[in-house]
Formats: sequence, structure tokens, C-alpha cells
Amino acid sequence: MTLTLAFDVYGTLINTHGVMTQLKETMGDKAEAFSLSWREKQLEYSFRRGLMQNYAPFSVCTREALDYTCRFHRVTLSDKERQSLLSSYRTLPAFEDVVEGLTELKAAGHRMFAFSNGSEEAIETLLTAAGIRHLFLGVVSVDDQRSFKPNPGVYSHFLRTAGATGGDAWLISSNPFDVIGAISAGMRAAWLQRSPDAIFDPWGIDPTLTVTDLGDLKQALA
Ligand code: 2OP
Repeated sequence: MTLTLAFDVYGTLINTHGVMTQLKETMGDKAEAFSLSWREKQLEYSFRRGLMQNYAPFSVCTREALDYTCRFHRVTLSDKERQSLLSSYRTLPAFEDVVEGLTELKAAGHRMFAFSNGSEEAIETLLTAAGIRHLFLGVVSVDDQRSFKPNPGVYSHFLRTAGATGGDAWLISSNPFDVIGAISAGMRAAWLQRSPDAIFDPWGIDPTLTVTDLGDLKQALA
């Protein structure tokens, strides 16, 4: 059966901690904690902007979160280092299972889209740099709705744009808030548990299915 698959991008296909080497060169031992805080703050800023109806592109959330994280961890970046980190964020690497996993799903005939908080331009750049753009029928961005996941409106926007219905459309995401958002908006959703330590929010809204590797998804959806 042909399904419509909406792949979350940051953290699911693309490794948001892919700037670790660069962070280690700049701040040594603080790099890992810094990278985690940066990502958490970036998402917090997107949630807050969504609730406040004070939209700015996801790249702004990323930049403002970087500046906050520098203050929090008492790290001073030169303008050049700051620019270089933000520019590397535009070409973060894909996780190892992504090329093969997506290629198999496409060969199985599924209609595949990238669906992200990132702007269309940012996601096109990211997927092209990672060598996976050709595997998608299109890129759907929340930017068109001037809001962020998990606003139910952005999932409806995905369904409309992809020409799908909730019953045959799946979100694939490593982000539990995204999975819960999609299910609440009437889609099905697979949680890609990228680490054994990852915890799914105990809200009583469970993923339709859980996989630990993108390579297992084709079988799980069959
Ligand atoms: C994305 O939308 C949630 O950051 C994640 O790509």
C-alpha cells in the first residue's frame, strides 16, 4: 500500500549535534553540554514564538538560542566563530542509516516529503548538502503557516499540501513532541528512537509504532 510519509528533518534525518567537532575545537569539554542546551533552547524558542504568535523563521530561533547558550555556559565566541557555527548548521550531516533507509522506502513506492520547522530554503540547502534531496517529492515547511510544530495547523497544512488524509499519512520523527502533535492532529506517527536513553513523553498518547533504525521502517509499515 502506498503511504504518504512526512519526515521530520532536524534530529530525525539530520544530526543537530553534527557541529560537535567544531564546538570541541572552540570550547573543549563544554562542547557536548553546549550542543544539547543549544538544541533544547532552539526548540523552546520555537514553542514560545508559536504560543505568543510572534513568528520568526527557525533560523532566528537557532541564532538566538546560540547567543543564549553562550551566555548560559559563559562562552565567548568571536564574530567569525559565531558565523562559522551558524553556517555549519545549514549543512549539518545526515545520520548513518538515512540514505539506505530512505532509498528502500522510496523503492517501496511511498510518497515521501520532508516536513520541518525549517524554512523551505534552509531545508532544500540541508537535504541537498546531505545528498538526499532527490529522495523526496517535496519539502513542506511550517514557514508557510508562520507557526511551529506542534501547532495542529501545521500538520493540517502538511496534509493539504501533500494531498493526503490523516488515515494514510505518517509522520516519522525522533522528536516525541512532534509525534504527539501529529497523532493529536489525526495523522499516524512513527517514533524513531535514536538513542536507548531517549524518553517518550508519558502523556498517554503513544506512537503508532516505534523503530530504532530507519532501516526497520519499511518492514514496520508493510
Ligand atoms: C524539525 O521540524 C522538529 O526541529 C524539528 O525539523
